Amino acid sequence: MRKIVLTLVCALAAVSLSAQTYQPTAENLKSRQEFAEDRFGIFIHWGIYSIFAQGEWYLQNAHGINRDEYAKAADAFYPHRFSAEEWVSAIKASGAKYICITTRHHDSFSMWDTEASPFNIVDATPFGRDILKELADECQKQGIALHLYYSHADWSRDDYPRGRTGWGVSGRDRTQISWEHYYNFMNQQITELLTNYGPIRAIWFDGWWDHDEDATPFDWQLDEQYAMVHSLQPSCLVANNHHQVPFEGEDIQIFERDLPGENTHGLSGQDISRLPLETCQTMNGMWGYKVVDQDYKSTETLVRYLVSAAGKGANLLLNVGPQPNGELPAVAVERMKQMGEWMAVNGESVYGTVAGDIPQQDWGCTTRKGDSLYVHIFELGYDRLYLPLDCKVLSATALATGEAVKFQKVAGGILLEVGKVQDSIDFVVELRTK
Ligand code: GLC
Repeated sequence: MRKIVLTLVCALAAVSLSAQTYQPTAENLKSRQEFAEDRFGIFIHWGIYSIFAQGEWYLQNAHGINRDEYAKAADAFYPHRFSAEEWVSAIKASGAKYICITTRHHDSFSMWDTEASPFNIVDATPFGRDILKELADECQKQGIALHLYYSHADWSRDDYPRGRTGWGVSGRDRTQISWEHYYNFMNQQITELLTNYGPIRAIWFDGWWDHDEDATPFDWQLDEQYAMVHSLQPSCLVANNHHQVPFEGEDIQIFERDLPGENTHGLSGQDISRLPLETCQTMNGMWGYKVVDQDYKSTETLVRYLVSAAGKGANLLLNVGPQPNGELPAVAVERMKQMGEWMAVNGESVYGTVAGDIPQQDWGCTTRKGDSLYVHIFELGYDRLYLPLDCKVLSATALATGEAVKFQKVAGGILLEVGKVQDSIDFVVELRTK
């Protein structure tokens, strides 16, 4: 019996020890808070894959490309229309507060001046410019936070221990596989990213899922890597798109192509944690530039998606895939401009809010900031809306115009006399509550 008790005590001690291993610093907690208040970021998927114009998975999806033949695209990468100033201005115009850019995707090409591999934008292209440096400087200049996407999975290097994707790629030397070598390479790159480009607010890892079906669980040695990130920049948030509940050492929780709690794409069935949340979504269909992919979501859909994310207490990271010439697609720029116009008027009901008192409904959703409860009405078949509320409502105002909206107290809540919905995208009514 004593032995059992002792074992139990030891087991519990081990659990609480591991649960307490990662203690976010004060800078990190501040950064989480700022991140959560931002609510809106723009994702950029850009690399030499844009030249093929088939999306960022082309190397794998074309089934049978030799990695050395694919790599020749680097020598034709000359994005002469790239302008960090134009990108950041267009992104800021959307109302987004941060940018997350792919520094190295699964195809292994590095979009910065890295010493760890010659397969990078400075050494392997005639363009020769460190676009990450230009972007990082511009972000600082225009006051917008920078996040870096970094792929754990790699379909081109010899040393990467192959997982369940990348099998469509030929030309790799199996005899050179070495996790240790690959892990050191990644850590060298991550160190560069967190040393040479100023403040980086988040590292957004992706590709863990490449080994999620291994017979023996694959050890990515994340603890050590995350600790390295936090020691290089304590305020840098660690995110991982592994489609699981967050692991030890992570600072935010990511969802892909679905809002938290929804799972229409099969990637977001995981429980929702108490960490700040973010959902990434495409503006058209693919992440990287794809020539046939012109099916852009409407501004109405995009604004409602952003607002619905806020209604679930999450950020939206909305993707744009720049063209091979370095420009952001004109349609994407137009959508961002229109989103920004809406946010300029209604942003206070999104930025700095938390999920509202009433969860998502057919008609829309709610967000809250202090004593203000924002009612977001997307579609309403009636001119009155019943809102079940525990709090007392002092006033109701149309956010965009400042006009009073009539309401009546009824059992269990209020009846809002919405009348004619004044904004076809999202008519926001601010309730002052007590
Ligand atoms: C997936 C894809 C990848 C994309 C990412 C964005 O993990 O593999 O191409 O970058 O989602 O969420």
